[in-house]
Amino acid sequence: MSDLGINYGLNGKVALVTGAGGGIGRAAALVFARSGASVLVSDVNEAGGAETVALIEAAGGKAGFFRCDVSKADEVKAMVAAAVDRFGGLDCAFNNAGINRLGDDEYDDAIWERNIGINLSGVMRCMREEAAVMVSRGGGAIVNTASINGLVGNPGQPAYVAAKHGVVGLARHGALRWAKAGIRVNAVCPGVIETPMTAPLVADPQMKAVIDAMTPMGRMGTAAEIAEAVVWLCSPAASFVTGHAMVVDGGNTAF
Ligand SMILES: NC(=O)c1ccc[n+]([C@@H]2O[C@H](COP(=O)([O-])OP(=O)(O)OC[C@H]3O[C@@H](n4cnc5c(N)ncnc54)[C@H](O)[C@@H]3O)[C@@H](O)[C@H]2O)c1
Repeated sequence: MSDLGINYGLNGKVALVTGAGGGIGRAAALVFARSGASVLVSDVNEAGGAETVALIEAAGGKAGFFRCDVSKADEVKAMVAAAVDRFGGLDCAFNNAGINRLGDDEYDDAIWERNIGINLSGVMRCMREEAAVMVSRGGGAIVNTASINGLVGNPGQPAYVAAKHGVVGLARHGALRWAKAGIRVNAVCPGVIETPMTAPLVADPQMKAVIDAMTPMGRMGTAAEIAEAVVWLCSPAASFVTGHAMVVDGGNTAF
């Protein structure tokens, strides 16, 4: 959870966060709520999603859960409709759901398809439905979770790298396509962040030491540090920022 306590000025707005059952998505959902937005928390992980909603409500915010697998077009459509039905519209969307299974052979067709289906096509489907609502309302802000693997390569994960480069590309495309409709579209590119996704790495002290050492700031990032950047990108303070891939990586890609 973020401890900056900044209110990004989203009172009365509606935010949708995918992959909000834990990690970066949960942290962002909390910052959206802290900034005054009603939050539709979405994930395939129902228990995690319910926990996020409970955390927001315990802090005095407004939230609801909707189960959605972002690789399924009909579920994504229903999720966006649910945000509008429950909270009256859609102003901010954080397309964050993703998978990253280290050790998989991503040249295997089935693993490639699954990775692209969630990490890239899932983001496209979310953007398509969200932008349709935002166009009809006269504007909005979308942030897609890419990765530093959306900007630089890594030898082990062709599907993840291709998907995350695609996510950055979709943000640039969306920024141009919907600029005149008042919709800003950006990407966030996290470095190595402590979340359930990286828990297996952190659990191994030797691996953790290697990861810490490869980051110029000497540590992994926190989910809250990504969440602050995401909600700022969705806020009125970022009103002229669009098509940007914001790196939040402790210096990993600064070489
Ligand atoms: N943790 C990192 O170091 C790191 C670095 C760069 C980018 N990212 C990206 O950040 C995003 C969030 O990851 P995280 O680190 O918080 O990990 P996480 O595993 O905690 O969160 C990912 C969430 O997405 C959900 N999810 C998975 N498949 C889904 C699907 N098909 N439909 C809907 N929800 C689904 C999971 O249930 C989970 O709650 C991902 O897109 C990931 O690729 C993470």
